[in-house]
Order: sequence, then C-alpha cells, then structure tokens
Amino acid sequence: PMGLQRMVDSHLRAHFSRKAVNKDSFARDAFSMSNAGQSLLIDEGFDEQEEPSTQSVIAERIRRRRSLHMRNKQLDWQESPEGQKMLEFRKSLPSYKERDTLLNAISQHQVVVVSGETGCGKTTQLPQYILESEIEADGGAACSIICTQPRRISAMAVAERVAAERGEKIGESVGYKVRLEGMKGRDTRLLFCTTGILLRRLLVDRNLKGTTHVIVDEIHERGMNEDFLLIVLKDLLPRRPELRLILMSATLNAELFSSYFGGAPMIHIPGFTYPVRSHFLENILEMTGYRLTPYNQIDNYGQEKMWKMQKQALRKRKTQIASAVEEALVAADFKDYSPRVRDSLMCWNPDSIGFNLIEHVLCHICRKERPGAVLVFMTGWDDINSLKDQLQAHPLLGDPSRVLLLACHGSMPSAEQKLIFDKPEDGVRKIVLATNMAETSITINDVVFVVDCGKAKETSYDALNNTPCLLPSWISKASARQRKGRAGRVQPGECYHLYPRCVHDAFADYQLPELLRTPLQSLCLQIKSLQLGSISEFLSKALQAPEPLSVQNAIEYLKMIGALDERENLTLLGRNLSMLPVEPKLGKMLIFGAIFNCLDPVMTIVAGLSVRDPFLMPFDKKDLAESAKAQFSARDFSDHLALVRAFEGWKDAERGQSGYEYCWRNFLSVQTLKAIDSLRKQFLYLLKDVGLVENIESCNGWSRDEHLIRAVICAGLFPGICSVVNKEKSISLKTMEDGAVLLHSSSVNAQETKIPFPWIVFNEKMKVNSVFLRDSTGVSDSVVLLFGGHISRGGLDGHMKMLSGYLEFFMKPELAATYLSMKRELDELVQRK
Ligand code: CDP
Ligand code: MG
Repeated sequence: PMGLQRMVDSHLRAHFSRKAVNKDSFARDAFSMSNAGQSLLIDEGFDEQEEPSTQSVIAERIRRRRSLHMRNKQLDWQESPEGQKMLEFRKSLPSYKERDTLLNAISQHQVVVVSGETGCGKTTQLPQYILESEIEADGGAACSIICTQPRRISAMAVAERVAAERGEKIGESVGYKVRLEGMKGRDTRLLFCTTGILLRRLLVDRNLKGTTHVIVDEIHERGMNEDFLLIVLKDLLPRRPELRLILMSATLNAELFSSYFGGAPMIHIPGFTYPVRSHFLENILEMTGYRLTPYNQIDNYGQEKMWKMQKQALRKRKTQIASAVEEALVAADFKDYSPRVRDSLMCWNPDSIGFNLIEHVLCHICRKERPGAVLVFMTGWDDINSLKDQLQAHPLLGDPSRVLLLACHGSMPSAEQKLIFDKPEDGVRKIVLATNMAETSITINDVVFVVDCGKAKETSYDALNNTPCLLPSWISKASARQRKGRAGRVQPGECYHLYPRCVHDAFADYQLPELLRTPLQSLCLQIKSLQLGSISEFLSKALQAPEPLSVQNAIEYLKMIGALDERENLTLLGRNLSMLPVEPKLGKMLIFGAIFNCLDPVMTIVAGLSVRDPFLMPFDKKDLAESAKAQFSARDFSDHLALVRAFEGWKDAERGQSGYEYCWRNFLSVQTLKAIDSLRKQFLYLLKDVGLVENIESCNGWSRDEHLIRAVICAGLFPGICSVVNKEKSISLKTMEDGAVLLHSSSVNAQETKIPFPWIVFNEKMKVNSVFLRDSTGVSDSVVLLFGGHISRGGLDGHMKMLSGYLEFFMKPELAATYLSMKRELDELVQRK
C-alpha cells in the first residue's frame, strides 16, 4: 500500500493532469469519426490509386496518355541490346511456355492456382505477363495488380528484379510497399507488397476498389497472414466479380487451395533444376573423416554407454513435435556404417545445432570443392550471429580475401541485402547464412552448395497451457527438399544435411500451418479492426480452422488487457494496438510508455524484445559473456533495464567512435543494436500516426524513472508473471500455468541469491525440459495491482478474482476502494488516448 501511494503521488497524477488536457484534444482530432486507422494507413503510402471517375475525364486522359507513353518506352527497351538479352533470359524460364495458358485461365476464371518449382518464374514472370497483356490491350491504364509476399526482403528484391527486367527504375510501372518503406509512383501498375500491407489496405478499402488482380505468392508456406488473407478474399470475391485472384505455390499441394475456392483451376509449371546430391550426416562423416565428440562432459563413458544414456533420455522426453524424430533415433542402431562413423554418429546431439560440424563442412567445401556459393540454413538470428562470429575467427573462413561471409534476414537493411545477390570477386567464395526464408521466397542464383541444419525456429503453441514457445524444431520433408533444391539452380549441386538419414525419414511431410501453432491475439485484433464480425465464426471459415480453445484463449487475453470489451468489441486501446505492427503486449508497452512519458527507454525495450536479444552468448565464452551482461544490471533485477543501459552505452560509444570496441568488450551484437536503433525510429513515426506522440523531435523530455519503467514493463508483459519466494539457499519461482519455473542462465537475475521483489514479469518462457524464463524484471505488489491487466466492464469482482490468483494478500476494504478508483482512472485514461 505504501508503494502504491508513492507511485500515484509521484508519477501518475502529475503526469495525467499535466498531459491530459492537450493530449485529449489531440486524441479527439486523431480519432474523429472513429476512424483512427485512416490517417495512418494513408500515410503508409497505400493511398488511393488514381482511378478514372466521371468527374475526372481529364485525369483519365492523362492516365491513358502516360500509359501509352509507358508502352512505347517498353517497346524501345525491348529493342535495345540489353532489353533483347533480358527478353532472351525471360523466354528461357519454364513459366514462359505456359504464358498463354496462364493468361487464358486468368481471363476465364476468377481464381487460379499456379504451382511450380522454385525458380521457374512464378514471382517475377506471372505478374509481368498480366501487366504486359494489359499494356498490349490499352497501355495498362485500367489495370492495378497487387502481388503479396510473405516477407519484406522478398517484396523489395522481387520488385527490384522485375523493374530491372523491364529496363525501368523502381517506382515506374513496378513498385513495392513494405512496412514503413515503399517506392511507387503515379504510373505504378504492379505493386509488390507484404501480405500485412494488403491486410492493412483492406482496413480502409474493404472492396479493394480499383484493384484488378490480386496475386498471393508463397501460399504453400501457410503463414498466418496468408491464411487470414484468403478468408477475407474469399468473402470479397462475390462482391467484386471482375477481380482476379491468383494463388502461387512452390510445392504441390495445390488441390487444397483449389478446393477451398470451389474447385478453381490449377496450372502446374513443369520446372527444370539440375540434380543435387544429398549427403546425410553419416556420409559427411565418412567423406570428411570428421569425428563428432561426446556432447556430455562425462568423457569416461564408452561411446556405447553414452548412446544408451542418450536413448534413455530421448525416451523419457515427450515433446509432441520431436517425437517421430526421437522414435527414429531410439530405433536406430547405425549398424550399416563403419565402426568409426558408427561411434561418431552415436555422439550426435539432436538438440544442438553443431557449430563445429558446420564449420568443418564449410572448410571441406572451401578446400575441396569446385567454385560456387554456399547457402547455410540456420534456425534464427541468434545462431546466425553466433555462428558468424565463430566463423569470422577461423583462419580460412574468416579471411575476406578468400571467403565472403554474409547473413541474410528479413528485417536487415536493404543495402546489406543486395550483397547477397551479387557475385563475389573471382577466387572469393560467398557463404550466406540464412533462415528458412531462403527456402522459397528469395533466389540466390550462384548457390551450388547447401548446408541444412534440419531445423527451423517456429512458434508452437500449447493451447491447453496457453504457453507459446519459440523453439527450433525439425523441418518437414517438403522443407528439406526445398532447401536441397536451392543448390541446383545453375549447375549440379550438393546438399549437406547435418542429420542422419533416419531422422530425415521421420520428418512430417508438411509443416503445420502457422494459424494452428501460434497464439492468435494479433490476428483476433485484426479481425476486429477489419470489422469482420465474430472472431470464432470468422476463423471457423479458414482453410484449416484453429482449435476453438486457442481462439477462446486469445479472446480472453484481449479482454484481460483491455483491448476488447465484454461484448468482444474493440476498445480504443484495442484499436491503437491493432495499428501498431508489434504483438499486442509490446504495443501496450509502447502506448503506456507514451502515456506515462517514459517512451525513450520503453522503445528500446520493445525494440529489443521484438528484434532479438543483443547480448551474445557464445558457447565457449558463456561465463565471460554472462558476467559482461551482469555489469549492465546495476543490481536492479531487470534484464530489460540492463538492455536499456547496454543500448545507451552503445549510443554513447558510437558518438565517441568506439561503438565496435564497446560491443566487442561487452559481448553485444552491433547488428542487433543497429536494428534496435532503427526500429525505435519506426516506433516514433507509428506512435505519431496513432496520435500518441506529438512531436518526433521533442523526445528528450522523457522520464527515466526506474519505478515507472518497471510499471510500464508490467503493463505490457502481464500476465507473463511469476511469483518469487526467496528460500534459504535458492529462489523458488512459480507461474500459474506451469508451476515451478527456472530462470534462464543468461538472465541477470539468474546470478542472484535473493530477489527483493515479490513478482517478476517476463516476455518469453521456453519449454525445454523445464520451463525457463528468458528475461525478467522484478516488480512490486502495487505495480501488479495497478498495471496488471485491465478492469473489465464486469467490474471489480472479476478483476479481483483474476488478481487473487496472483496476489496472496487480500486488501482491506478501504484500500480496495482507493485502489479501485485509481485503477479505474488509470484504465480510463489509457482508453481515452
Ligand atoms: O517465383 P519462382 O520461384 O518461381 O521464380 P522467380 O523468383 O520468379 O525467379 C525466376 C528466375 O529469375 C530465377 O530462376 C532466377 O534465375 C531469376 N532471378 C534473378 O536472376 N534475380 C532475382 N532477384 C530473382 C530472380
Ligand atoms: Mg517465387
């Protein structure tokens, strides 16, 4: 109660009364006509296409004239020597043979499903065929084609490529639009954008007025946004009979999509790739003479005994996703191999990505193999970065005169992305470390060797325990085939699978769609902001509907944080959250940070949580790295505050030209800090659009009060909360759903013998053998009471019931009354913004 009083006195009231007046009127303007989304969306650049209307005959004439001009320019280009060469190349692609078939089908059917091997020319050619046939017809004046890509990098790279194929600069007839970046002009007829951008456009333009063709690419990936978009489009088609929808997919599960759209015609483009040889772990060990070493510290066990222990351990574990693979491993005896390989295989650790093995394979390729780029599939940014660091220290792989080492990720800066596609100098071997995005959506032409670690980080979601987990899990056979295929683009290739063949045989055929394995909170918010009616009813119309329990959990969560009211209507907070392209919990943190005037540190925290942890934890220097991180903690029991300090220290060092040295000394990733920095800027613009930040330049007056920041962290992360009981020798931590949990060793709190807070809040928990909390911040009772969740319209009772699960002490009636009024005030304030 004392803490509670202090909190109110020192921060809340002061901040509210001063800020409330002018922010109110500002907010009123921004939300006038209850259409807060509009300004943001139009600013996002997805403005109305200039389309002909009866009043603007002149405009139409101009459009026509410009179109004809465009057509002539195009003809000129095609006659130039480079244009000829490009045309030759385009004609050599497998899709060219199907050009007429494709265009015919599209003109006759509203929906067409197109499949074909990666590289056959779906993404770059098909939209162009449509564009060209429209230009032939009337200069293209009437057409407006949108082609969605699941990722930013592919939208940008593809637009760039298509513009180049047409001898144009980007922004002429071809443009792109991704979150916070875009290039399109008045003549743009073909727009590549992320799926998210199209969904946002639907928010202001439910009928996609003016759009003639929608092409949804990479649907086989079954991303959540794509599945979601398909439901919306299916709904829209009857209202827009002249609109054409083309679905494009790499692998052959076209039937599923065709039947979803009532038996839409399917066209398959037969492709050509060079043969690629597969090497599984056993072949790699045989071929290179490499020996895996026992991964346990217990060296004095014989290999045979280790294997038995490993098998026992595997048998005990029952993770749903890994089980088929583990069964295969338990059954394997590797009898067919030479004793050396057999012994080595038995040391293979299915839980580790095996950096040393990768390093070894890369050395083998560089020393023994023919020229050609190498593409390494990793699970995520963390291990790409750690691996890159390890390889850079290697005498051969780290030598820039012999090896060009690159990382490839969806949110990296565009300039860096280009390097991936460029040819390196003669005698230099390009090695690209990528995530599974390099499986289908981007094509690196000169790849001859693929190294496949067999895993991809995917979110899985346990609806029963309502626990999201982000874990590297085994890929599907379809993915493995796809990865392998990347090596055969220009000549016969080699693929090194870093796992035994028996493991591959146990992979699932296809990956589970994202809709069925992720928490649905963001999606539910979008359904509401698109006014698509009842969430459950809408989602039941999906290609594969998610479990009702997952849907219910998401709705409950959104009600609890105050984004939906009791009747499942979007609140103002919910509307704001739906416009911030981060998870609702991170969005809530930003909104609270803006309201409570401590946005600067909060933006750093949110950017860190949505990019990745900048603290590097190399395997071999774990202790050093952990103590480097601990120095940022200042004993305030918060990984999030440590992150802020590390980031700000880096900014200072940057100003003194010693940024790199600072990062090196403190085990920090420069790239990650840069990504955080750029995301922070993006947040400011977004918050300004939503009306929560008035002036981008005036960001120096933000509070850095540690109590306040803790409260804001709690507002976002709740109900990611766990109770702390300090025991004599240890600390006991418990969450409601999981019972006892542990702190991940990388957390600054893991070193502590006592945590002087009754609660810690966390962003991420991971189920491995036990449940680990990755990051944590200690918070007090009063912070949990005031900032944890939202008092629903159901009133105090429900709120108390919810809190009593977390709070053991029960409040005295007079305190309850004070509390209630403060909490109400707080909640209303947040809703008013
Ligand atoms: O979409 P799909 O996988 O079917 O192929 P695409 O992305 O349209 O690429 C077709 C061909 O264009 C590839 O085989 C590459 O040879 C070439 N391409 C390129 O040279 N540079 C790019 N940035 C993209 C594609
Ligand atoms: Mg493609």
